[in-house]
Amino acid sequence: MITTNNFVNELDLALQEKHKGEIRQKIKDKGLCAFVFTLGCQQNEADSERIRGVLREVGYKITENEEKADLLIVNTCAIREHAERRALSIIGRFKHYKAKNPDIIIGVCGCMTAQEHRANQIKHSYHYVDFTFGTSMLYRLPEFINNALNKGKRRFLLDSEKPQIAEGLEIERESNYKAWVSIMYGCNNFCTYCIVPYVRGRERSRNMKDVLDEVKDLAKRGYKDITLLGQNVNSYGKDLEGKPTIADLLNEIAKIEGDFMIHLMTSHPRDASSEMIEALSKNPHSANHFHLPLQSGSDAILKKMNRHYDKQRYLSIVDELREKNKGITFTTDIIVGFPGETEEDFNQTVEIVKKVRFDSIFSFIYSPRKGTPAYEMEQVPEEIKHKRYDYLCQVQNEISNEINQTYVGKIIRVLVDGKSKNNENVYTSRTEGNKIVHFECDNDYTGEFINVKITKADTFALYGEKI
Ligand code: SAH
Ligand code: SF4
Ligand code: F3S
Repeated sequence: MITTNNFVNELDLALQEKHKGEIRQKIKDKGLCAFVFTLGCQQNEADSERIRGVLREVGYKITENEEKADLLIVNTCAIREHAERRALSIIGRFKHYKAKNPDIIIGVCGCMTAQEHRANQIKHSYHYVDFTFGTSMLYRLPEFINNALNKGKRRFLLDSEKPQIAEGLEIERESNYKAWVSIMYGCNNFCTYCIVPYVRGRERSRNMKDVLDEVKDLAKRGYKDITLLGQNVNSYGKDLEGKPTIADLLNEIAKIEGDFMIHLMTSHPRDASSEMIEALSKNPHSANHFHLPLQSGSDAILKKMNRHYDKQRYLSIVDELREKNKGITFTTDIIVGFPGETEEDFNQTVEIVKKVRFDSIFSFIYSPRKGTPAYEMEQVPEEIKHKRYDYLCQVQNEISNEINQTYVGKIIRVLVDGKSKNNENVYTSRTEGNKIVHFECDNDYTGEFINVKITKADTFALYGEKI
């Protein structure tokens, strides 16, 4: 099915412009500051860059100091219980700012507040919060702020039934060499453990031209590391006219001039096509790193997770990627202790981790999410989950260390991230494959590619010197 109403219409966007104008008038010359706290994944980081863009546009100064702020926004995550607890504790600590100064505005947005029970909880238990809104309502931020400035009623807005994309919002990028570019929003996969489809709505893709214009502009401005974002970038374009694919998009990006690398975040193995792998291998900008979430190495658990691939299919994608992209590095996500996971299921996960030999893994202890099917399933006891988690980390740490040792003596290209916190002359950088490299140097090359000779390695990082 091709949807033609993926986008917020111009009238709705114009209404927000009107609110922006009114805010500008109201806060003019007052020197007001805004603070934005971000939890969660890159998608949320990207949303927060839009929030800051709008706030600056209407006249707020952005501050890193929450105590100085006249407007506080918390952009929340709901992926695991821990993320929600953190959000609630941060919102809790904002209470005394409002007690001191009732003119302060506090807003909460993001995935947690897209859930009705959380929006209600904030409404009833956090009386000093002025508004909450769901992820697709971000473009209406000016309206919510203006209403709060007018001392209007508190507002608690969930997502719209049919969330749409708002193009053209200001972006205040945090970095001048690394950038997130959302290529699509939402998710259709409904993995049984995951809250994302409920809080970010169905998949919708940005037009290829809008994405390409953004990438071209970033390349022209000297950005070096561009991550194409989506919950499942491999299904990009299915909802667009002409159905362009992720391979088409990559092939167009290949033609853009400039010394920059492209990462994809995230690819679902279910939709990883040979065309996409081919397009990556031919792309001069490809970072030669692939993040391919495995979640479990047991076919029975993958089925209960609703992942739509099995162990064999996963391994064949890895093989194909390795064959066509020499030296490619792999990372993955793994969930430990999904409901019903037996010792045998878990051992199969360990086995596949040993077989693939990922450069690193992001492993998570399964966290039941209210409203998802797995929430209702029989749970694995906490202590077993923790034991399995610790064991998996131990196995992976050994592998990461072994792989990292093979870098010693090699010269590799890295993108410099800045001075290391602990040591004056030491800088931190990343390889294209996202490995951390610390190196000594007298000059500051932050935001530039340089070559480093690796002299030492451990489980979590490489060490070297600039050559
Ligand atoms: N769209 C991406 C994942 C986004 S969430 C994908 O499909 O790969 C990032 C990771 O969080 C997931 O890959 C999964 O490993 C983990 N995760 C999601 N829900 C979780 C839950 N309920 N408990 C623990 N980990 C979870
Ligand atoms: Fe969640 Fe699965 Fe969608 Fe990823 S693909 S966001 S894990 S439902
Ligand atoms: Fe969290 Fe939402 Fe991302 S739940 S992981 S911030 S999509």
